[in-house]
Amino acid sequence: MTTAPFIVAIDGPAGAGKSSVSKAIAERLSFSLVDTGAIYRCAAMAARRAGIAADDDTALGTLTGTLAISFKMASGENRVFLGGEDVSEAIRTPENSSFTSQVSARPVVRQALLDLQRQLARTSPRGAILEGRDIGTVVFPDADVKLFITASDEARANRRFAELTAKGIETTFDKVLADQRARDLADETREVAPLRAAEDALIIDTTALSLQGVIDRVIETIEAVRLVSAAGRA
Ligand code: DC
Repeated sequence: MTTAPFIVAIDGPAGAGKSSVSKAIAERLSFSLVDTGAIYRCAAMAARRAGIAADDDTALGTLTGTLAISFKMASGENRVFLGGEDVSEAIRTPENSSFTSQVSARPVVRQALLDLQRQLARTSPRGAILEGRDIGTVVFPDADVKLFITASDEARANRRFAELTAKGIETTFDKVLADQRARDLADETREVAPLRAAEDALIIDTTALSLQGVIDRVIETIEAVRLVSAAGRA
């Protein structure tokens, strides 16, 4: 008998700490890591390169259905590939971030990327951590563990500002905060798959928590559920 891989859904707004937590947990448990934000960012970047407008549903649908997006762990980094090209940095520029926010609101794009997200998780040998906005509500509503990781606006913008500055991207805290608020609003109010916690998600506010504190809490939660499901199968 084959058992389905263990699925962990991690949703929440940008800058709440989802990525660092997801990466640490995936490494600790030897699970695959599916960064669904990176998948949407790849689709947006491909559309920008092809000169497709954010509201051209026909062209977006055709393009998104043909994209070859994959992940590979290299030196502790979850690298993202579009075709054979490593686009891990290119997809994270502020320009591509705002275009992603617009493109990811289009139902045609979300539908075209749904199967890819499910397939990447289901073909994981041990289990998968999926991080995004609608994993617990839409992509895997029956995930084994659902978490919603959040933090205050200012704490999130501070983290993103530090990240961008460290990468040599010139910006200001006020601009990062304003961009983030605009994207939060777009993510929370779009008609299809808006950002919200699943009713049965465990909500973790990371504003005053250390990264290690969050990781430990998440690992404890996952291990408790794995024990219960292993006992159920015995
Ligand atoms: O997590 P991130 O900042 O890399 O996400 C990039 C964009 O993609 C952001 O605007 C939200 C959107 N997104 C989404 O709509 N659904 C997901 N499951 C993941 C990301």
